[in-house]
Amino acid sequence: MSKSFSDILQNSKQLFDSFFKSFTITLFTPKTRITDACLYSLQAGGKRVRPIFVINSFFDTNLIPKNGSSMKDDSIFLASLAVECIHTYSLIHDDLPAMDDDDTRRGKPTCHKQFDEATAILAGDTLNSLSFYLLSKIETTDGFLLRDMIQILHRGAGMTGMILGQMEDIEEEKNPTTINQEAKLQSIHEKKTGALIESSFLLGNRLRPDWKERESVLSKYAKEIGLLFQITDDILDVEGNLEELGKTPGKDAKAGKLTYPSLFGIDKSKSLRSESVEKAITLANQLPSLRNEFFLGLPKYIAERKN
Ligand code: IPE
Ligand code: IPE
Ligand code: MG
Ligand code: MG
Ligand code: MG
Repeated sequence: MSKSFSDILQNSKQLFDSFFKSFTITLFTPKTRITDACLYSLQAGGKRVRPIFVINSFFDTNLIPKNGSSMKDDSIFLASLAVECIHTYSLIHDDLPAMDDDDTRRGKPTCHKQFDEATAILAGDTLNSLSFYLLSKIETTDGFLLRDMIQILHRGAGMTGMILGQMEDIEEEKNPTTINQEAKLQSIHEKKTGALIESSFLLGNRLRPDWKERESVLSKYAKEIGLLFQITDDILDVEGNLEELGKTPGKDAKAGKLTYPSLFGIDKSKSLRSESVEKAITLANQLPSLRNEFFLGLPKYIAERKN
């Protein structure tokens, strides 16, 4: 019997959480100020959507084991944790005074508020390099697998992906685009948020023997999910509250960011969000051997989330 979207979501989050719990005990030993700062941000309570994307691009719906026991090795969880480490580092740095200057993240004081700026910078650096180390621990006889995984992660996180998007987001604040703002906005969102989300889907997929035949449609689907994710984030910044969001709302308008609501207004942003949900569902229906409840249910979940 096929599982519902919320069962799959919950199940894959549990799988990630139990790996995280057991694996990080030794990973962050010996305990130092830097491991404390890394663990503080990692454990602050994120949704873990990117690890969930990695896991669900690997398993077919009904093959998700109840616990990790039937897995031959931890490859899929190492890849999931690698992505969560990069993501958490991007949040720590995004919150720094030199960037978005935020005090609250995941419902707690931001890393630099809890520790200090230098520690937050170094914790981010640590999580960045750690993610590539985690990929190196994947055991494989396929000589190209690790090379591909490293390149997929670098493409999403590095100077053509998330970092470039962050650079453009900050530059835009200081030097706003006056022509073709819509293209600029899409380009920022694709890179700062979409690129790492795309990597998450592709990393899980790359661990499958049939990865080649699924990659192209999965990549289109992932790009749409990435855009939808950031349109929703922009709307939540306008409509959310601190308690539910776990981060301060209203920051984008204050900083003069180029966002969906700032460019189109809130109503048009919501209709663009609905269009994006429909596009993602259409793409989900084209996914070879992946037409399951997770991929079909995900767009609505992303659009309707409250944090
Ligand atoms: C927040 O990401 C940053 C964006 C790219 C919009 P999430 O909304 O996934 O944050 P957590 O991991 O749940 O805290
Ligand atoms: C996040 O964009 C992109 C990252 C790479 C962290 P935002 O700056 O909008 O994310 P939040 O709203 O602070 O989570
Ligand atoms: Mg930002
Ligand atoms: Mg921010
Ligand atoms: Mg935001």
